[in-house]
Amino acid sequence: MTTLIINIQQLINVRAETHLLQGAGLAELPSIEHAFLLVEDGMIADYGNMYELELKVPQLPKQVIDAAGQFILPCWCDSHTHIVFAKSREEEFIDKVKGVSYAEIAAKGGGILNSARKLNEASEDELFNSAWKRLEELARLGTGAIEIKSGYGLTVEGELKMLRVIKKLKEKSPLSIKATFLGAHSFPAVFKEDHTGYINSIINDMLPVIGNEKLADYIDVFCETGFFSPEEMELICTAGAAYGLKPKLHINQLNSIGGLQKAIELNAISADHLETMTDEDVKAIASSSTIGTLLPTAAFFLRMQYQPARRLIDAGTAIALASDFNPGSSPSGNMNFVVALSCIQMKMLPEEAINAATINGAFAMELQHELGSISVGKKANLIFTKPIPSLAYLPYAFGSNLVDKVLIGEKFY
Ligand code: NIG
Ligand code: FE
Repeated sequence: MTTLIINIQQLINVRAETHLLQGAGLAELPSIEHAFLLVEDGMIADYGNMYELELKVPQLPKQVIDAAGQFILPCWCDSHTHIVFAKSREEEFIDKVKGVSYAEIAAKGGGILNSARKLNEASEDELFNSAWKRLEELARLGTGAIEIKSGYGLTVEGELKMLRVIKKLKEKSPLSIKATFLGAHSFPAVFKEDHTGYINSIINDMLPVIGNEKLADYIDVFCETGFFSPEEMELICTAGAAYGLKPKLHINQLNSIGGLQKAIELNAISADHLETMTDEDVKAIASSSTIGTLLPTAAFFLRMQYQPARRLIDAGTAIALASDFNPGSSPSGNMNFVVALSCIQMKMLPEEAINAATINGAFAMELQHELGSISVGKKANLIFTKPIPSLAYLPYAFGSNLVDKVLIGEKFY
């Protein structure tokens, strides 16, 4: 089917060439005012200024959408989420309101282990249905591509169950989905005193099945004091590499323990979180090919320091923004809020935040040739805003829902 969108107030992030944006490059957001966009079978076929329309599209198709006053952006590419989980954890939220820390909650058997207990009791269908509802809500908020992690199973059956749910989501949803194996999210209670035993189970029991059934695209480890050390992360990532799984890693959320340097050595696609960064850490990631994925809603929800976005950008880092949607530290996957928070609290310019949440997010999932910008031949996954006075209005008016509709794979949300 062919759809022509006309009178677009501004068409945002229009790129003839796709490249990862680093440092100062993040502030350049190419756009066309008073534009048209031609979509053929869910793909971007052409675009331009309205005065070129007659020349470029001599015969108007049956379906024409008038987008007067509206901005159109490529969909959000959310490159870090944990949206497959059995139950929300608002009881821990109340504890946090009363002043109990994230680390204290985890030490009491709450946190990730709490979610793991609930996940192991849930059926594959229950997990699929609840994750599907979350995906549909995220699509209405403008997310068109998403990475989803396992990591709430922490048993062979539980981890495989999560990855099979993600595989089914991939098959059924029009969103582009990437799966990440995060068996190394925490040590389960039975292996509390036997780290080697659990790591062996990841390597010998989980990874071969994941590899054979092609259940994951990436491998992740929560590298943190009290969780997995940089050396343990290296062991696990090296074993994953034998199955073609590239690392995307949880790094420097609470402590700087050498995980970032190890992640770079392992050629990680991305190092995610980065709340706690020394000057050496900033220098190391800026001069590497690893993307720094910032998750400001996790810092917001846990009342932690925000990621040092300005230091990272000024040093020349390629950064992406993601939601970290999970029941413990970021119970929201609203990328509009992620973008707003990045501008308000991390002092990112609206252009930088939008680039980090679109094209660089696509790079952080290796989807840059399919998504992330308005480019001929890419998927027409599009956000139509409500009429707004300027692009900066999006993060500025942070509480309003400014998404009018979303197009994903020929389906309107
Ligand atoms: O990315 N930091 C580790 N994992 C998640 C939180 C998981 C949880 O609390 O359930 C995160 O923030
Ligand atoms: Fe996470």
